[in-house]
Amino acid sequence: MHAIDVALVGGTGLYHFPGLEAVERHAVDTPYGPPSDALVIGQLGERRIAFLARHGESHTIPPHRVNYRANIWALHHLGARRVIGINAVGGIRADMGPRALVLPDQIIDYTHDRLTSYCDVAGAEVRHIDFSEPYSARLRAELMGAAAAAGIPLLDGGCYGATQGPRLETRAEIARLRRDGCDLVGMTGMPEAALARELELDYACIAVVANWAAGCGEEAEISLPEIFANLEAATAQVPPLITALPARAD
Ligand code: HPA
Repeated sequence: MHAIDVALVGGTGLYHFPGLEAVERHAVDTPYGPPSDALVIGQLGERRIAFLARHGESHTIPPHRVNYRANIWALHHLGARRVIGINAVGGIRADMGPRALVLPDQIIDYTHDRLTSYCDVAGAEVRHIDFSEPYSARLRAELMGAAAAAGIPLLDGGCYGATQGPRLETRAEIARLRRDGCDLVGMTGMPEAALARELELDYACIAVVANWAAGCGEEAEISLPEIFANLEAATAQVPPLITALPARAD
């Protein structure tokens, strides 16, 4: 059996990876409890891909209740070494409007009361990971290359502000995030990225812009049907992007 070349954690709007063949489903148990759903493993051409729906395949788990520790542990346990989180976000920066795909390079974490570390277990060794660059530079470069090869527009860099949810933010909260330097806002980017770093996985996030964040667009309110239409259109670019990602030899 080939090793898993890349694992995807699908967010809102991406519950299955189309085109996978010889699909197996693995219900993995972990020391941290069950992952959001079964891990789906299949072939994409020559490569083995793992897929996990972050909110469950029927989207029943809100962002603050996702068992991030179990999800990342399970992917690592099955042998994944590079992991890509697909995260729906609101756009704050002027060039990051609905339907844009962005590869952020920084994070500010505003979440609270989430289990954020594998150290958070009695008796576990306490480790302080370096998180100056929260995403893998190597995987980000590979994704930028794949986007160029496939002709898919992917914005390189941006600061992801991770909020608690599940409600969307107030205009004042978004104004504060903008002042802080956030370009995007989403509810699921953390602690996933930090947990991946703790397990020494190569991790990157593809942020899919669903809407203008509160107060950033023309509309007085954010429309949910528009969010879903934008996500459907933008997320359709993710499978071809992953297909264009070269396999790793090492
Ligand atoms: N805020 C936070 N998370 C989101 C948004 C938003 O506006 N849109 C999609 N996910």
